[in-house]
Amino acid sequence: MAYRSGLTRVAFALAGALALAAGPAFAQGKVKVGFMLPYTGTYAALGNAITNGFKLAIAEGGGKLGGRDIEYFTVDDESDPAKAPENANKLIKRDGVDVVIGTVHSGVAMGLAKAVRDSNAILINPNAGADEITGPMCAPNIFRTSFTNSAPGYAMGKVAADKGYKRVVTLTWKYAAGDQSVGGFKEAFEKGGGKVVKEMTLPFPNVEFQPFLTEIASIKPDAVYVFFAGGGAVKFVKDYDAAGLRKTIPLLGAGFLTDGTLEAQGAAAEGLLTTLHYADQLDNPKNNAFRAAYKKAYGLEPDVYAMQGYDAGQLLVAGTKAVGGDMSKRDALLKAMHTAKIDSPRGPFSLSRANNPIQDFYLRQVVGKENKAIGVAVKAYEDPATGCKM
Ligand code: PHB
Repeated sequence: MAYRSGLTRVAFALAGALALAAGPAFAQGKVKVGFMLPYTGTYAALGNAITNGFKLAIAEGGGKLGGRDIEYFTVDDESDPAKAPENANKLIKRDGVDVVIGTVHSGVAMGLAKAVRDSNAILINPNAGADEITGPMCAPNIFRTSFTNSAPGYAMGKVAADKGYKRVVTLTWKYAAGDQSVGGFKEAFEKGGGKVVKEMTLPFPNVEFQPFLTEIASIKPDAVYVFFAGGGAVKFVKDYDAAGLRKTIPLLGAGFLTDGTLEAQGAAAEGLLTTLHYADQLDNPKNNAFRAAYKKAYGLEPDVYAMQGYDAGQLLVAGTKAVGGDMSKRDALLKAMHTAKIDSPRGPFSLSRANNPIQDFYLRQVVGKENKAIGVAVKAYEDPATGCKM
């Protein structure tokens, strides 16, 4: 008995010494990472691609964050802004996550960003473009690896003006992403001498496009600019083609129109021009390696969402590495993330003062099943981060 308790004492002392030697990583247990993404509805494929991309970057980083194991938590946000505060707090308050990866829909992202601002958690936004998030809502613990909504629109507005189009009709879902995308397009297009002659909208995520196609056919603009994504983008491109408009009135889009969708759109998408911060066959070593690794891991071609999820993972790997996995060194962690140079498949980027990528926007054309880069529409675009005080 005396012998056994002596042994127990030794074991405890040893465990304590090991914990001290291993430092905070040992003391803090696993890093908790929460995914708040859409896994159902029109953006479901986007949420899955982001999750896959993120996990690929973690696997390439050795499956750990700063030497610590990871515990994942998942919430399907259904792209429903009304449920955003409750869903965000499931991860932040109930599960106590260190980091949230979220989300796709701008309206949901604004609710999520608000919840994160009031907490100790860190947000990495792998898609939603709401200009506000890296504008008036900016914060040292809020990062984005995607874009601001107005940016791809701005790039296409410039392309459309350079092509000499004068009268353009716009169509989108009526919410922040569509409004800001069209806003960016209009700003650049009208600065370049064009005129947006009609702005049409329908509620998210409706796909009853027929009345709009009929009206476009009667207005006969020089081109049409749209923001749609996911399942809605698949249907819009097919409907536009079926209405006989693809060959007569050029369809222009923010690149989401044809990203992750080409398999389903088939020939209806052939030749379409879009602008985005990514293109499938960008010929840089990182993109080639990323595409091969993604295909090997998941049996799928990656898209812009997978790439943004991958970079969210790379950003977190860089930050946690700098603090040896010690999430209590918050200032050092946030600084390491803010100053990280990300070797991205889109091309290398760093973050603006508002933690938004500074990046090129490519002009792409659909050729077969690929979005092929045919030029750079805007070089090293830095969102102005209007209203960001930090
Ligand atoms: C958004 O709501 O910000 C959003 C959604 C889907 C996209 C791009 C932006 O593909």
